[in-house]
Amino acid sequence: MQLEVKDLNTFYGPVHVLQGISLSVEKGEIVALLGRNGMGKSTTLKSIMGLVKPKSGHVIFEGKDLVGFPPYRVARAGIGYVPEERRIFPTLTVVENLKMGMKGGKEGDPNDPYTWTIERVFAHFPKLKERCNSQGRFLSGGEQQMLTIARSLMGNPRLLLVDEPTEGLAPLMVQEVRDMLAEINKAGVSILLVEHNLKVALSLAHRVYLMDKAHIGYTGTIEEFKNAPEIRAKYLEV
Ligand SMILES: Nc1ncnc2c1ncn2[C@@H]1O[C@H](COP(=O)(O)OP(=O)(O)OP(=O)(O)O)[C@@H](O)[C@H]1O
Ligand SMILES: [Mg+2]
Repeated sequence: MQLEVKDLNTFYGPVHVLQGISLSVEKGEIVALLGRNGMGKSTTLKSIMGLVKPKSGHVIFEGKDLVGFPPYRVARAGIGYVPEERRIFPTLTVVENLKMGMKGGKEGDPNDPYTWTIERVFAHFPKLKERCNSQGRFLSGGEQQMLTIARSLMGNPRLLLVDEPTEGLAPLMVQEVRDMLAEINKAGVSILLVEHNLKVALSLAHRVYLMDKAHIGYTGTIEEFKNAPEIRAKYLEV
């Protein structure tokens, strides 16, 4: 396993928001973490990333326990994070925004063909290249989301944590962002994806975890989940 989260417990003050979360991601996989509002999906990603500090448990990434590490060290270990709220720099251009992404994470080896450079990002995502000299604030919501995701690649993560990438986007942009994640995965990056759009999640993920309040209630392959409408009703429908 590339990532093994074991028995994670996280509190906000007195509130026990993650009660023994365990999950795993294999190298090359896209794993979806789904559930209704407020179940703890974002907190799970933040706990892995070190943005909130779990009280107990393990975050084992490529054999090393990162639990309790600050976010910059988790990033350097090879985990990228795309938060729910898009944090692009509005007065910087697309290229400048991408350059900011090099600061976190691990600097790429220019001799390695798999290192993410601005050229490689543009080769994979020509839509961003078209806007390369536009300031962030002039991009559409979808373009801003693509830029946020692309920027996270500049730290050369081997695993990307992505929180609700298609939220609030027009249908065409939902498709663009979906395709972008598929492309990133094809390029060798594993993804742990929180996503409310079930169609997007089902079309991308290999396996799924469903969260109940503060717990994982179900896990299975995408095929198993597709054939279990009662599970979908129990964990996702309102
Ligand atoms: N900074 C915080 N301080 C206190 N409580 C918080 C904080 N962030 C989240 N919570 C609470 O912790 C619980 C889990 O929140 P979290 O954001 O992880 O849920 P989520 O599954 O991502 O929900 P959504 O689908 O709405 O994004 C919720 O009850 C939420 O209200
Ligand atoms: Mg959330």
